[in-house]
This record gives sequence, structure tokens and C-alpha cells, in this order.
Amino acid sequence: MSSMTKTAVIGSPVQHSLSPAIHNHWFIENEMKDCTYEKIEVGHNNFSEAIDSLNEQGYLGLNVTVPLKEAAYEKSDKLSENAIQTKAVNTLLFKDGKIFGDNTDTIGFTKSLPQKVIDKKINSKNCLLLGAGGSSRAILLSLFQLNANIAIYNRTEERAVNLLKTVGAKGKILKKDELDDFVATTSFIVNTTSLGLQEGEVNDLVNFVNVRSDTYIYDLIYNPSLSSFLYQAKNRKLKTQNGLKMLVEQAAASFEIWHGISPIVDEKLMEKLGA
Ligand code: ATR
Repeated sequence: MSSMTKTAVIGSPVQHSLSPAIHNHWFIENEMKDCTYEKIEVGHNNFSEAIDSLNEQGYLGLNVTVPLKEAAYEKSDKLSENAIQTKAVNTLLFKDGKIFGDNTDTIGFTKSLPQKVIDKKINSKNCLLLGAGGSSRAILLSLFQLNANIAIYNRTEERAVNLLKTVGAKGKILKKDELDDFVATTSFIVNTTSLGLQEGEVNDLVNFVNVRSDTYIYDLIYNPSLSSFLYQAKNRKLKTQNGLKMLVEQAAASFEIWHGISPIVDEKLMEKLGA
């Protein structure tokens, strides 16, 4: 085994991942000269072999991204509470011949929220979760842990039902024609759908005319930094946040699991990443 401490992100596509830039920033800040973080293209078809091979090659741990988080959950020998609840793993740690799986997306989302937003817009308040795909699980769990009154809208209703079941959270499932009335009661809306990722694509799930002026609007999308969803919110002078801080905070939690150091998340890093 080499003396290098090797980590990586695996997934497909992984080419444009910002994770190496984040971890390398912290390696430099903490003078961790023997640490590396790569990106490795891995799909469903070679997932299990890739994990075993990287484990044998002496990697300390891996981040796992789309579409492998459920497979990483299945592959783990031991799981954190958040991984058990989301049935998804984004952080693997190879230790004592075993694979430990954690889900730092949940804590990443929670830590990305200003405390004032948690206290005034989420805790005991009506919150709307848009989407029921892979990235919605951690958000649902976080909102549930933060004691929100959760409503979920997804184009395919059945997936929203399954999402609640998977995470074991309580929430109301909204139909399309119930959205307008509900948004008038909500203080927090988070978009977890992929709508707006493609250039020119419009996220028209919410009619912003009905949204209250004190509602906090969050989009998991960070590229583009001003998504279609946030653009509409800004036009109505609403407070908004994109997914970049969550990305950095989930990375920080993974960094701590692997290296035992809680890295600094500051403006310098956010600016480097294009905030
Ligand atoms: P991810 O891992 O990014 O969550 P996903 O599991 O494919 O990817 O989920 C994509 C999410 O975006 C889903 O909630 C999806 O809604 P459906 O479950 O109905 O497919 C949502 N989404 C994608 N394109 C959409 C569109 N054109 N209109 C409404 N919702 C859309």
C-alpha cells in the first residue's frame, strides 16, 4: 500500500464534479500533502467491482454520486442513522476490512440553512418540497428532523408516496390543483427536481404570484447559479438560496468522517467555487 491517503468521488457523469476542488482546497489549508481526491467515472454495471477494487487499492473512502447512492447503501456493511433513513449513501469509509456508509447530504442541507430560516420559516411551519427523485430523500429527512409541516408535490404522485414511505417521514401529498392554495400558506419552498438544469428549461411548478412575500426559496441546483426557479423568485423580491452551500457542507461532513478534521467553510472557498 502506498503512503498516500486516497479519496475520490465516483458516479456517472462525474466529469464536472466540484468535489475535487473543495477537498483539494481543504488539503492545502490543512497542509495535508499526502492526501488526494480524484473523480472516477463508475456506472451501475461496474459499481460493485469498482468499490472492491478501490478498497483493495487502499483508498480511505469515497463519495458516491448519481446514480449510485442506492447501490452504495446496499453495498455498505454498516450504516449511519441518516443512511438508514434515506436508504441512500453518499460517503463510504473503508475501515477494519468493512465498508461504512453515511449520508452527509442530510446534514449538508441542514447546515446550509441560516439558523434564522430554520427558526422562522421551517420549524413548525408549512414547507413545500418539490420533487420525489433521488436528491429529495435527504431534503425530506432534514425537513422532518427540523420539525417542518411538510407537503410534497411531484409530477408523478406515486413517487411522492414512496418517498414518504422510504424515509419514514410524515407529510401531505399535494395534487397539481392544490399547489396554488398551498403555496399561499408556506414559508419555505425547496426545489429538488431537475427542472432548470438544462439551458432554457423553465421550472413552472409553482405560480409565484401566489407565493407570500416572506417565503424563502431554495433550489438544489447550483449550476446555473441562478436557476429558472430562483430567477422567478428574485423577480418577486423573495429571499433565495441555491445548492452550492449544501454541496460544500456535505463535503465538509465527508471530510470530517475520513480525516477527523472539521474543515473551514468560508467566503474564500465559496468564491473559488463561483458563488
Ligand atoms: P435526481 O436524482 O436529480 O432527483 P431523478 O431521481 O430522476 O433525479 O428525479 C428527477 C425529479 O425531477 C423527479 O421528481 C421528477 O419528477 P417525476 O418523478 O415525475 O419524473 C422531476 N422532473 C424531471 N423533469 C420534470 C418535468 N419536466 N416536470 C416535472 N417534474 C420533473
